[in-house]
Amino acid sequence: MNLYKRIIRPVFFLFDPEKIHHFVIAALRLLALIPGMNTALKKMFVVKNPALERNLFSIRFPNPIGLAAGFDKDAKLIREMALLGFGYVEVGTVTPRPQPGNPKPRMFRLKKDQALINRMGFNNEGVDAMVQRLRNRPANVIVGGNIGKNKSTPNEAAVEDYEYCFRALYNYVDYFVVNVSSPNTPDLRSLQEKEPLARMLKQLQMVNDELSAKNDKREGGGIRKRKPLLLKIAPDLSFQQLDEIVEVVLELQLDGIIATNTTISRSNLQTDADVVEAAGAGGLSGKPLTDRSTEVIRYLAAKSGDQFVIIGVGGIHSPQDALDKMNAGADLIQLYTGFIYEGPSLIRNISNEIVKDPQLLPRK
Ligand SMILES: Cc1cc2nc3c(=O)[nH]c(=O)nc-3n(C[C@H](O)[C@H](O)[C@H](O)COP(=O)(O)O)c2cc1C
Repeated sequence: MNLYKRIIRPVFFLFDPEKIHHFVIAALRLLALIPGMNTALKKMFVVKNPALERNLFSIRFPNPIGLAAGFDKDAKLIREMALLGFGYVEVGTVTPRPQPGNPKPRMFRLKKDQALINRMGFNNEGVDAMVQRLRNRPANVIVGGNIGKNKSTPNEAAVEDYEYCFRALYNYVDYFVVNVSSPNTPDLRSLQEKEPLARMLKQLQMVNDELSAKNDKREGGGIRKRKPLLLKIAPDLSFQQLDEIVEVVLELQLDGIIATNTTISRSNLQTDADVVEAAGAGGLSGKPLTDRSTEVIRYLAAKSGDQFVIIGVGGIHSPQDALDKMNAGADLIQLYTGFIYEGPSLIRNISNEIVKDPQLLPRK
């Protein structure tokens, strides 16, 4: 067993999950300031190998393993996460205005299930604060911007919130993710329905064209390139709903789908029912999500005709879980809960397995 699981995790798990989260952020930032530490961390965790590289939507990913949204909500940890081996970091979900999120406690461990329940509710410092931070972002780490709406914004006006974040972040992130799948903002997930979804994505692609044309002029012409735009979806959608989403994605020429966010389902849990109930409402992540998210990925891959990228996320806790997602059709993967339960060596172990597996040559 590794140092993380033997010593660090048992200590962390004595404390409130959200407190530990903030402690880890502060500790990692301090750690990375110690002279020589960058080199030491890189040596310990970063695997470099051409077999890990992926070229997708004109971006070169050094490896296909990303940090999922929600861990670095305010873009404070990009450099540090790359030192732990992540090939890219998705920041956010960020909203136009800062907001506190739901009352605490709002994050719970289900240890028996290697899972978390959270109802954070998009707590974040707002997109303007994020932009200030991203002005000094490391240029050599791929950063995705995951955008959402404020709780106080009604769904009818949601597109304005997404557009605000999109414009603000345009020059500071490498790709965008439209998050309409968090269960913790009331009614947000109904934006996954065909009509409102198509309306919103159409508007964002129009803005995308407008901003890319401006950049194009500044750079003296050439090929006008949209910023890659992806959609993050819930695991609780029916196959019919997935079909509708694929239609919209193809019609509006989105670059990809991130599957999946957390689930509202509580089925097949080992944890005592009263403990689960006491945690209350929220999204469940981790091991219980593994199979459903892989199923969604496989379904999307069959429908995609290789016309959009799939980022697979949900319950990756082992190299085998990662390979399963990639074999199901994920071009890239992301993790959050597995990182909490397994520690940073998980990323290195996944990288090493991918290198060993000749089946896993990139699809595109
Ligand atoms: C505490 C917590 C906060 C999260 N916040 C966000 C978020 O702000 N935006 C988002 O798109 N996904 C968010 N997620 C979902 C994750 O990005 C991921 O899709 C989900 O947890 C499944 O992956 P996992 O099983 O590896 O955790 C959050 C997950 C957790 C556990």
